[in-house]
Amino acid sequence: AAIEASAQGVSVGLVCKSLLGKAHTVMAEGGMAASLRNADPRDNWEVHFRDTIRGGKHINNWRMVEIFCQEAAARVSELEEWGAIFDRTKEGLIAQRNFGGHRYPRLAHVGDRTGLELLRTLQNHGIHQGFEVYMECCVVELIKENDQVCGAFGFWRESGQFVVFKAKSVILATGGLGKVYKVTSNSWEGTGDGHALAYRAGAELIDMEFVQFHPTGMVWPPSVQGILVTEGVRGEGGILKNSDGKRFMFEYIPETFAAETSDSEGEASRWLKGDPEARRPPELLTRDVVAKAIRSERIAGRGSPHGGAFLDIASQRDAEYIKKKLPSMYHQFMKLGNLDITSKPMEVGPTCHYVMGGVRVEPETAMTTVKGLFAAGEVAGGLHGANRLGGNSLTDLLVFGARAGFHAAKYSKEIAEPFNPSEDLLKKMELISLEQFDPERTENPYSVMEDLQEIMENNAGIVRTKDEMEKGLELLQELKKRREKVRVEGNRQYNPAWHYALDLKNLLCVAEAITLAALKREESRGGHTRDDFPKSSESFQRVNSFISDKGGKMVIENREREPIPEYLQKLL
Ligand code: FUM
Repeated sequence: AAIEASAQGVSVGLVCKSLLGKAHTVMAEGGMAASLRNADPRDNWEVHFRDTIRGGKHINNWRMVEIFCQEAAARVSELEEWGAIFDRTKEGLIAQRNFGGHRYPRLAHVGDRTGLELLRTLQNHGIHQGFEVYMECCVVELIKENDQVCGAFGFWRESGQFVVFKAKSVILATGGLGKVYKVTSNSWEGTGDGHALAYRAGAELIDMEFVQFHPTGMVWPPSVQGILVTEGVRGEGGILKNSDGKRFMFEYIPETFAAETSDSEGEASRWLKGDPEARRPPELLTRDVVAKAIRSERIAGRGSPHGGAFLDIASQRDAEYIKKKLPSMYHQFMKLGNLDITSKPMEVGPTCHYVMGGVRVEPETAMTTVKGLFAAGEVAGGLHGANRLGGNSLTDLLVFGARAGFHAAKYSKEIAEPFNPSEDLLKKMELISLEQFDPERTENPYSVMEDLQEIMENNAGIVRTKDEMEKGLELLQELKKRREKVRVEGNRQYNPAWHYALDLKNLLCVAEAITLAALKREESRGGHTRDDFPKSSESFQRVNSFISDKGGKMVIENREREPIPEYLQKLL
């Protein structure tokens, strides 16, 4: 977004909560999806469109998917022009691997470090494009005047001093909210800041009930629980087994799968018969299906010793191949788990990885429902529907990052001067941000955070029920009151407890949004599974959920989606 906005000739500042280049993007390890057709000439944007809508269980914003699939290949090539070094085929083309829900091998990759390579490339290219970078700077609130966003208020993490950015437009590229759950692949930055900032600025959130639990996170040792084990392990041939040594995914092929798959090779029926040579194994069913299967095996008493399943690539590929294609996984397990994955299976289990829901944006421009506020990447909702296909996130942030950059620049050029936020407003923001130092307060931010993660894991986790969620909402209201009493000690200079206390406001906001939306959707679909409504319903297929602030109250509404036009419907 910053690169494209700069290219449009406007002045750009890039504000990073952490360091430039440190983002959850590195956790998209296995690749970026684009129909380059290097692995299979039958691939094209239309098949990618079909896979993405099917993976999203038909509630995606179709126009976003169309733009995404059409522009994906060009964005990957652009990244290569900027210096990304992809794995190659024997012919020298960008290599593409299999991933869940993709009809053809479609993921351009760099071993199992694709996200890192993407960041490295954008960073190296970006720093020469003339924008300013402000690191370790945390935005607390967006500033609005005359109903339009005109800047942001925040603080420097190191000094604790406040800072005001005046801007003609603002792009949120803040990623997700995984830290709202106890077990997550997200690191400390993933606290739903962008979702909450946009919500408080008056933007609408869409489809917040859809949270993705990646099937394979580390489960042991406890200190590394949740760290991602890339889908690339399964993409490269890894299989899942239970404690009886049985390859169990054949038991979990959805009834609707064969009917949904117009599969000329009869692959679905080969899977159903348990044919281990089927070209795309059942371990590569979509993430929602695989995560729930692992959970079911554990509940049935067939889990691995630490409550997961076994992921075995050692019996499928030789050591040299594993180290070449999955170098990070090899080192990760060696260093963190003292386990050699070239000779032993890994223990893995579901981990909160991604949120499909996000700030509602206009597909062409990435503008939110608030003037001057744009959003791209995980913080934006709509593209992935009820479940994101692995590999679609990296391409998403390239495609819509560039669009957001272009349109934010265009919008800014049409504004004469940035507004000057009122002194009173800024003073109020300062006072609110310092309330936690009041010595009369009693609550510890870390224990509020821990309780929040526990509530979300138990009451709005991978499988949900009405009673659990109603209870969850009650508990969240109590937590909100406790947050108002949170107290931090010490001073403003590098004070992580204070930073936690400020993050809590955002985490509680997204926790409530997820639970409220999940309660309203009385069906199971993609990343949203209701034990009390185990089937998908046609009436819910027609709607998306929208959350907004109405007079200080979080309000949810389900609205019908515009139907997919005929020329795209044909592709499905
Ligand atoms: O498993 C993975 O490498 C994750 C990829 C993604 O989330 O896109």
